[in-house]
Amino acid sequence: MATVRGLRHLLVCSRWRRGGAEAPQSRTLAAVVPGISQVDNNSDFLGKRPHRRHPGILQLPCIEVPPALAAAAQFLLLESSMPNVEKQVQALTNYLWSRRLPVEPQELQRRAVHLEKKFLENPDLGQVEEKLREAVLRALRKTTYHWQELSYNESLSLVYMAARLDGGFAAVSRAFHEIQARVPEFQPQTLMDFGSGTGSVTWAAHSAWGQSLREYLCVDSSAAMLVLAEKLLKGGSESGEPYVPGVFFRQFLPVSPKVQFDVVVSAFSLSELPGKADRTELVQSLWRKTSHFLVLVENGTKAGHCLLMDARDLILKGKEKSPLDPRPGFVFAPNKKKQKEEKFSMVILARGSPEEANRWPRITQPVLKRPRHVHCHLCCPDGHMQHAVITARQHGRDLYRCARVSSWGDLLPVITPSESPSESELPLSPADNPPGS
Ligand SMILES: C[S@@+](CC[C@H](N)C(=O)[O-])C[C@H]1O[C@@H](n2cnc3c(N)ncnc32)[C@H](O)[C@@H]1O
Repeated sequence: MATVRGLRHLLVCSRWRRGGAEAPQSRTLAAVVPGISQVDNNSDFLGKRPHRRHPGILQLPCIEVPPALAAAAQFLLLESSMPNVEKQVQALTNYLWSRRLPVEPQELQRRAVHLEKKFLENPDLGQVEEKLREAVLRALRKTTYHWQELSYNESLSLVYMAARLDGGFAAVSRAFHEIQARVPEFQPQTLMDFGSGTGSVTWAAHSAWGQSLREYLCVDSSAAMLVLAEKLLKGGSESGEPYVPGVFFRQFLPVSPKVQFDVVVSAFSLSELPGKADRTELVQSLWRKTSHFLVLVENGTKAGHCLLMDARDLILKGKEKSPLDPRPGFVFAPNKKKQKEEKFSMVILARGSPEEANRWPRITQPVLKRPRHVHCHLCCPDGHMQHAVITARQHGRDLYRCARVSSWGDLLPVITPSESPSESELPLSPADNPPGS
């Protein structure tokens, strides 16, 4: 059974069980430390919850692929009796994780001009145009990353399923959990998944919002992938009742610009497009089709991160002249998360205005727990980065304990100053080095 391991915070939590009941006054402790953070005591953020379940914790303990999906995938793999599956899985995994962005034509042109100038200085090459051209092309081939489009035929689709079904499911489940935890009243009815592949997004969405979702549209240009996804839904066969009702398969995006979906997802698919122009066009059309949340997930690599930052900027700048849906977008969840077995980047964009959604800063690196203090690297709501060292003495016991049980990707229940000149550092040892010194 494919599982994605639990996150470390559960282990940590077990070491930080609360001894007894606490006086309610301690919950409103607010230690204002100049230039740093203040406990968010505008709201009773803990309520009756223990620190280890403070509302900024967004980690999922352990994500397990639904048994019906795992069984269907295993059945299909056995049925295919494909030779050397393990080797093929390893090769595809390596390729996908080492994949970089395709080099853009303008960049190629720039490199060619540069090489030409360099070779013109060589009298042997400079004389003959043909020789010069060949030398430039040879050098370009040698030094340029050769991006290759993957053709998801029947066998590659199966290999992809064996390699990425559990990891993809886990990453998307984590993204959906972010929305569920922060907007519990959101009950989507429709979802569109671009580049749907094996359909893991549909399974994850069904686990998250199966009660309310009534239509899932899977769009994938590969007919083999669509067949595979449908078989997985039917327990590995071509007939029978699908495990998730209301799933539709298409090879193209819906043409009508007026059709919108509550949730639109693209998981690991932007990286399949051959260039920036295609990605721009796609992100704009996915955004047009989004009525609430656009969830973009890519590998936790530099290339994956760059793709998502470009997509985010494109939507936030809102360059479309007369959009059918004039509501602006905002980043609901920026994140780059490390898990034991799956490292991914995600961005969730939402329609409307941020209001309370982005009140707390997000932890952007592993939390370092040291004796009587905790280091937290934070990305604040206004975009500035902060390195906070939190102690019970300076920040109050509530924040200290919340920080100690938080992990990378969680929100820390503090209010940070809206403007900060640069990354601020809090002293490592509060006793020796008081704040502001
Ligand atoms: C890497 S797979 C991702 C599958 C799935 N989203 C997941 O999370 O596992 C990328 C998928 O995008 C599909 N794809 C690539 N280019 C596409 C396009 N222009 N239109 C629709 N689908 C496309 C591929 O066929 C493939 O199934």
